[in-house]
Amino acid sequence: MAFVVTENCIKCKFTDCVDVCPVDCFHVGPNFLVIDPDECIDCTLCEPECPANAIHAEDEVPEGQEIFIQLNAELSKLWPVITAVQDAMPDADEWNGKPDKLALLER
Ligand code: SF4
Ligand code: F3S
Repeated sequence: MAFVVTENCIKCKFTDCVDVCPVDCFHVGPNFLVIDPDECIDCTLCEPECPANAIHAEDEVPEGQEIFIQLNAELSKLWPVITAVQDAMPDADEWNGKPDKLALLER
């Protein structure tokens, strides 16, 4: 099993999560982060750190967001590793909690 970054990270990208990951398995795209499921050791540390509550265990991904399991696996192979906290996206607080952000995911 692995942890999964889900929809509410899109256009927020607070990056608090990367600070606690002991195995550096976060990868960064233009407006979203993903977890490499082959590297994640299920330590649970990142889940409570996300201000957008976007990180969930694979078997606890919210209903309707199952596609993010595949997206984390796919995009983590394409995007670079991120190990240091960065500034959140502009207007991150405004986007936090908005529904239907998947269409806004940039690759
Ligand atoms: Fe990293 Fe642990 Fe989160 Fe997996 S559960 S992404 S190993 S901090
Ligand atoms: Fe995204 Fe939350 Fe990390 S918004 S970048 S999963 S802290």
